[in-house]
Amino acid sequence: MNPVSSVVRGVGHHVPSKIVTNMDLSRLMDTSDEWIIERTGIRERRFVEEGTTTSDLAVPAVRMACARAGVEPQDCDMIIAATLSPDYFFPGIGTVLQNKLGMKNVPALDIRAQCSGLVYGLATADAYLRAGLAKRILLVCSEVQSPILDKTNRGRDMAVLFGDGAGALVIEAQSCPEGQRPTGKNTSRGVIDSLMGSDGSGAQLLFLKAPGSTTVGFMTQQSLDSGDIHPKMDGRVVFKNAVTRMLEAASTVLERNGLQPSDIDLVLPHQANLRINEAVREKLGISEDKVFNNIQKYGNTTAATIPICMSEAHEQGKIKEGQLVMTLAFGAGFTWGCNLIRW
Ligand code: COA
Repeated sequence: MNPVSSVVRGVGHHVPSKIVTNMDLSRLMDTSDEWIIERTGIRERRFVEEGTTTSDLAVPAVRMACARAGVEPQDCDMIIAATLSPDYFFPGIGTVLQNKLGMKNVPALDIRAQCSGLVYGLATADAYLRAGLAKRILLVCSEVQSPILDKTNRGRDMAVLFGDGAGALVIEAQSCPEGQRPTGKNTSRGVIDSLMGSDGSGAQLLFLKAPGSTTVGFMTQQSLDSGDIHPKMDGRVVFKNAVTRMLEAASTVLERNGLQPSDIDLVLPHQANLRINEAVREKLGISEDKVFNNIQKYGNTTAATIPICMSEAHEQGKIKEGQLVMTLAFGAGFTWGCNLIRW
């Protein structure tokens, strides 16, 4: 029997229409357009209107991915959903989306790998498809983060970074031509390799404490007063770890597949800070035109950054069949990872 590979058949995205500029934020807290652009590259981000949920935002992204793949959500036999900002504390958005999209009673798996959600999700989808446990998987990454940010001076280091958005992929098991799995050296399409890493010693360096079981009472008035309901970060330590781990992941995947950085046609990195991506790009020795960034428009949409980049790169004709594409992520946990794909 021919081996199968996991081919991305369709990718879509959706962002809210409300644009929030750096200038808008400077009216709420002590910050400036210059500071934000210089330190992060971000010019604006999108925030949902009150009442829009993470699963709401995901639905149009899924519809776009399915239309591009020429399938309906009901044609998928598994859903994998990644978010740090679910509709409810539980259940996750996987089951909520199964219902909203009118899908069959398929397995709905939620992934909690924060900014590495797409990389972990694609690695997991690939494993299920190659094991023959699914034939067509819907991978959804969606975040509504604007309501959890502390938009006062106290939270300004985090509040200027994040935005809302969603991305989705339809991934299919495809029989490999001439029995050849994609290797990076041949023309077979699909996911070639994935790397996932974690270091939980960094858990409290980028986290949201409450609600959670480390808080006696799970969530209390004290959680509200102290700001524990907002995300917190040690920005400098996170920055350094992001550069180191993304570089390490890319180098490991390139080396174990016998590839040079110059063999990669397009890198789709997580969008946390333009300076992080620039440092990684320079250290890898990849030219600027081979790295896709859109943090300027959307800020950090956590799990959704990479699929939004993928969808926009597809629309702009920057990602073409036959190309070698690399995703690269780092996020809270800490988690990090990389996928290598023959598009
Ligand atoms: N506007 C204006 N000033 C701000 C500010 C804001 N929004 N946020 C922080 N500052 C101030 C700080 O208070 C500090 O002031 P001080 O020097 O008087 O103490 C100064 O700016 C410098 O802060 P610092 O944290 O050293 O800045 P930085 O150059 O490290 O940039 C980040 C801050 C957050 C942009 C950067 O650390 C970063 O991008 N970290 C990683 C982000 C990331 O990857 N996050 C998610 C991973 S998935």
